Amino acid sequence: MDLKERVETLSARLLEAQKAYYVDGRPIMSDLEYDGLFDELKAIEDSHPELRSATSPTNRVGSDLTADFPEVAHTIPVLSLDKAYSADEVVAWMDKTMKGAETPLSFVEEEKIDGISMVLYYEEGLLVRALTRGNGYVGNDVTENIKTIKAVPLRLPRPVSLAVRGEVYLPKKDFEALKESNPDVANPRNMAAGAVRRQKSSETAAIPLTIFVYEGFWSDEAETPKDHLSILRTLRDLGFRINPHIALFSESKRRSQELLREAGLEARALAYEDLASYLEEVTAARSGLEYEIDGMVTKVNELDVRQALGYTEHHPRWAIAYKFESPQAVTKVLGVTVQVGRTGRITPVAELEAVPLGGSTVRRATLHNQEYIDELELAVGDTVSVVKRGDVIPAVEEVLEKNGEGNTTFHIPHSCPSCGSALEERGAHLYCPNRDCPDQVRGRISFFTARDQMDMDSIGPKAVAKLVDMGLVKDIPDLYSCDYGKLLDEKGYGEKMVKAFQDAVEESKKRPFSTVLASLGLPEVGSKGAEILVRGGFDSMDKLLKAADDEDVEAFTKIDQIGEQTAHSIITALRDPVMRQRIERLRAAGLQFEQKADGGNLEQIFAGQVWAVTGSFEHFNPRTLAVKELEKRGARTVSSVTGRTTHLLAGHGGGSKRQTAEKLGVRIVSEDEFLAMLGQEGEGEREKATSSGQLSFDF
Ligand code: IVH
Repeated sequence: MDLKERVETLSARLLEAQKAYYVDGRPIMSDLEYDGLFDELKAIEDSHPELRSATSPTNRVGSDLTADFPEVAHTIPVLSLDKAYSADEVVAWMDKTMKGAETPLSFVEEEKIDGISMVLYYEEGLLVRALTRGNGYVGNDVTENIKTIKAVPLRLPRPVSLAVRGEVYLPKKDFEALKESNPDVANPRNMAAGAVRRQKSSETAAIPLTIFVYEGFWSDEAETPKDHLSILRTLRDLGFRINPHIALFSESKRRSQELLREAGLEARALAYEDLASYLEEVTAARSGLEYEIDGMVTKVNELDVRQALGYTEHHPRWAIAYKFESPQAVTKVLGVTVQVGRTGRITPVAELEAVPLGGSTVRRATLHNQEYIDELELAVGDTVSVVKRGDVIPAVEEVLEKNGEGNTTFHIPHSCPSCGSALEERGAHLYCPNRDCPDQVRGRISFFTARDQMDMDSIGPKAVAKLVDMGLVKDIPDLYSCDYGKLLDEKGYGEKMVKAFQDAVEESKKRPFSTVLASLGLPEVGSKGAEILVRGGFDSMDKLLKAADDEDVEAFTKIDQIGEQTAHSIITALRDPVMRQRIERLRAAGLQFEQKADGGNLEQIFAGQVWAVTGSFEHFNPRTLAVKELEKRGARTVSSVTGRTTHLLAGHGGGSKRQTAEKLGVRIVSEDEFLAMLGQEGEGEREKATSSGQLSFDF
C-alpha cells in the first residue's frame, strides 16, 4: 500500500473512532489501538508534510503557531433569542404564536447551553471555518482551535455545504478538575471562552471542550429538511453531537409521538398544556446535568411557519429563550438623576455605589419611568438589588432595605431638567416636547456622529456639547457648514483638533446611504433596520421620501421584516417638516443619498486563492475591511499562514506570519500592491464592515 493510501485509511479509521468516542459516547477501539494508529499517522505526516490534510485527525492536537483571530463576515444571520423570565411568559408566547398561524404548530424544547456560541461552516463536506458569534454579522475566525474539539466533525460523510450553529462548552466535572490549577476562572463558561481564544491551538487541545449543535442552514435550499426535528436528525446523521434532552409539544401527546416517529428522533412527547410543568421540572433538576444551562429554548418546529414569522432586528420571532435568572448585585442608591434622550424621552436613572456585576462595574441603573419607581417605592438611600438582563443596561430590580434618612419615594420633576419645558405624558413615559431642548439636540447630534453611525470619531459627545453650547451647531446639518476655526479661541481646542473635526466631516461624506439613513435617528430604523430597507429596495432617499409622501404603507410592509406599525412610524417621521428640512440640507451638504452596489458583481480576481492578513493598514482600518475586499473578489481568507496559503497581505508590523510566509515561499503583498490590485490606487472607498451581504441566507 502506498503512503498516501495508508494516510487516508488511518485518517478515516481515526475520525471514525473519534466520532464514536466523543459524539456517540460508544468507543469502537481500545485506547491502545487508537494511540498506535494515531502515532503511525503522525509519524507519516511529520516526515511527509505534503500528505497532511486540513481535516486530518492529527489536527486535534493543535499547533504551537500563534494565531490572531481575524474578523470574518458571517454568511448566515447569527441572531440571538428574545427572552422570557418565567414559564408563564413562555406559555403566553406559545399561545400568541399559535393564534397567528393557520395550521396547527408543534414546538421543540431544548436546553439553553451556557457556553460559547459557534458557527461551523462546511463546504462540500469539509469544515472550512469556525466563527464566533461576534456582533452577529462579523465573528472571529477560531477555526484552528475549534478543530481540536473532538466532537466537531472535520469531514462529513456527504459533500454537503452548510452552516451549523452550536454551543461549545466545558462539562462541569472537567471544569472542576481544571479549576485547581486555574483558581481565578469563575465558571465553566469562562474557562471555555478562554480556551476557544487561546493563541496556540495546542493549548485549546489540552482542554476537553465539546459541542452541542442546534441549528443548520443548508446552502442548497432543496436539501433543507422541512422541520426542526428533521434538521436535528439530519445533523446527527452527519456526525454532529446533538443534545438528546429535547421535548416536543403539540396538540396531543399522541400527535407529538407521531411527529417524532416521522422525524426518526427520540424525545419526550408532550401536549401544549404540559409546557409550564415541563419547564418547572427541568429547572428544578438542572443541577444534576453534566453541563451548565442558563435557560430553555422553545422553537417552532415547522420551517415554513418559521419563515412566515420572520425576524425582528435582533431575533427570530419563531423562538424564545426562557432564562432561569439574571446576574444580580446588591448596592445602595446614592441619588436619582433624570435624563433626556435624543427623542425627548425622560428616563430616571439610579446613581449607585459602584458594584461588580456580570463582568463589569455598575454605577448607574435604569429606573425606566415613574410607574416603575412607584412600584418599587424607591427612595434615595435605599439598598437595592440590581440585575443585568440579557446583558443590557442594568436595572434596579427590588428594594431590599429602606433608607434610614426618612427619604420618601422619588418623584420625577414636572419640568425638563435641560430646558425647563413642561413634560408631557405619552404612554408610560414622560417626554420633553421641545425639540430644541439642548439635551435632545446634543443627543441627536451625538447619535449621528457616533462610531456606530457616521463614525465621526473625533466629534464625540463632549465636542458636540461644546459646539452646541457655543451656538455653532444647532442641528445635524450644521456640522457640515460650521466654522470650526471659531473653536481656536476656546481653551483646549488647538489647530490639530480643528483639523481632525474638519477631516471627520469630509470623511463622513463617503459613508454609504444605509449608514446615513441609520444615523438620522428615525424611529425603528437602526443600522440593521436601515440595511433591511436598503436591501428591500429602498436604495435611495428619493425612493423612501416618495413612498412616505404617497403614504404607501405596502411599499414598506412587503419587506419581510417590516410590520405595519413600523411602516407608519417611518412614514410619519419622514413627512415631518423639520426632518424633511434636515434631510434636504444633508443632501445639499453632499452626503450619500443612494446606495452604491456593494460588490455582489465584482470581478472575482482572487478566486481560488487563499489569503492570510497580518499587521495594520492605512486604508483598511479595521483590518476586516481588507478581508472583506478579498472575499468580495473570491478569495478565501484564513487566520494563519500554512502550506496552502497562496498570499499574505502584510501591513505595518505583523511579525510571525510574515516569517512563516517567507519560509514557506508564500507571496507577500504590500498594502500599495494590494490597492493596485483592487484598481483603486489609494483611493479606497471606505465602507463599513457591517454594511453588506450579511442578511441573506445563501452562502
Ligand atoms: S437557537 C436563531 N438553541 O443562546 C436562533 N441557541 O441568545 C439561534 N444557545 O446565541 C439560537 N443553547 O449561543 C439556540 N439550544 C439552543 C441554544 C442556544 C444555547 C445560545 C446561543 C445563542 C444564545 C441566544
